[in-house]
Amino acid sequence: MSNVTFLSGENIPLEMHKVRMVQKINLLPVEDRLSCMQEAGFNTFLLKNRDVFLDMLTDSGVNAMSENQYAAMMQADDSYAGSETFYRLESVLKDIFAMEYFLPAHQGRACENIIAQTLVKEGSTVLMNYHFTTTKEHIILRGGHVEEIISAEGLKINSSAPFKGDVDIEKLKEAIKRLGKEKIAFMRIEAGTNLVGGQPVSMSNMREVSRICRENDILLVYDASLLSDNLYFIKTREAEYKHVDIKEIVREIASLMDVVYFSARKLGAARGGAILLSDNGLFTKMRELIPLFEGFLTYGGMSVREMEAMAIGLQETMDIDVISQTPIFVNTLCNELIAKGVPVVTPPGGLGAHIDATQFCSHIQQTEYRAGALAAAMFIASGVRGMERGTLSEQRNENGKECLAEMELLRLAIPKRVFTLSQIKYTVDRIVWLFENRLLIGGLEFVEEPKVLRFFFGRLKPKGNWPELLVKQFRKDFGESL
Ligand code: F0G
Repeated sequence: MSNVTFLSGENIPLEMHKVRMVQKINLLPVEDRLSCMQEAGFNTFLLKNRDVFLDMLTDSGVNAMSENQYAAMMQADDSYAGSETFYRLESVLKDIFAMEYFLPAHQGRACENIIAQTLVKEGSTVLMNYHFTTTKEHIILRGGHVEEIISAEGLKINSSAPFKGDVDIEKLKEAIKRLGKEKIAFMRIEAGTNLVGGQPVSMSNMREVSRICRENDILLVYDASLLSDNLYFIKTREAEYKHVDIKEIVREIASLMDVVYFSARKLGAARGGAILLSDNGLFTKMRELIPLFEGFLTYGGMSVREMEAMAIGLQETMDIDVISQTPIFVNTLCNELIAKGVPVVTPPGGLGAHIDATQFCSHIQQTEYRAGALAAAMFIASGVRGMERGTLSEQRNENGKECLAEMELLRLAIPKRVFTLSQIKYTVDRIVWLFENRLLIGGLEFVEEPKVLRFFFGRLKPKGNWPELLVKQFRKDFGESL
């Protein structure tokens, strides 16, 4: 992101950090990769990390930490109550978000549990730009409904809209009119909208949503898990923020919200979670649940070492060189794929590259989990582990009918400052090979299908012997190569 021009005119995502600790990774031969996939029931969540070459499953809890984060872990103050670490983290959070109260939780979904328990009533509706898997489950568990009111552009695979995560303001107004504000538990905005391809939300949209919510006494909850990427996009795509300090941008966002929560496995590059509030009444209600579900109020289920790392990680998030690393790598990965005709979500967002399985595997039925099949094929072809984000990640309805996803995506997450450019180029190379051989890929069917969050532990099998045929073609094209 720093202003460096190359003589060649190439747009290279130059790393503004150096590597001082490394982990050896293994690239198994293609036959072994197939065996691992079979053992994992064609579910990338069930692979063992030792068998994975590049782990692009997620950026959750696997971002590279800085020397200062590791150093801070050494000064963690381990006490059940009143730990100095808590007060250090609290003061960093107050400084960055300028919100009055902080409740700690062990990770993002724990925050969602506390928020849903406090605000969602049987039969109420939560409006949101788009759901995240765990968010939706917590709301449904409390008897609530989720209604998504993302902009129409957000659901298009290809668009030139810079902020595809924006809320559709007309739909928001219509939903308030139709449901009545009493029936709306809260409005939720998710930064860097995960399931539609890591797409950002603009400040101008957040301002408008906040204004309408305040006019109608509807609480506005902000999921800031993917804030880091979203800040980069506000700075680079929303002209009036080009010269605004990152911390000022965060404070402006927070000032529009009633509740801010996040997974510190993503934001802050550590492991944990936080809820931030300004209202004392709401804080008091949520506070009661923390000792029951998380831990005492000064650690909330987190290790104090992680809390120290989180405090430093959040401060480092205020640095454009730190937050730009993932989006510029995603941009390079996507642009190289686009140049080869591979269908990806555009414009490239944060979090990772999102390959459109609907076009890539148009010959596979949606009910045969085309994005899941593509994720399995990708691992066999490359040792790269991605994540299905499509119908498999949905849940059947009460009558056992498949709930077909609006988008069928293979997500290749780019954890912060973990991979090198040559690893990105290797990934491109293997995806392009897979694209050329896409007709070899076949569908999947469940062998074991859990009722809730089935994508985590479900086991599947291929329809036919397509994985073996893929291996055969790989050997033919790559010879002895790994
Ligand atoms: N909200 C968003 C937008 C998320 O992306 C996640 C997690 C959570 C909430 C839940 O946080 O994992 O700390 O409990 N996303 C991860 C992912 C799991 O792979 O995208 P958590």
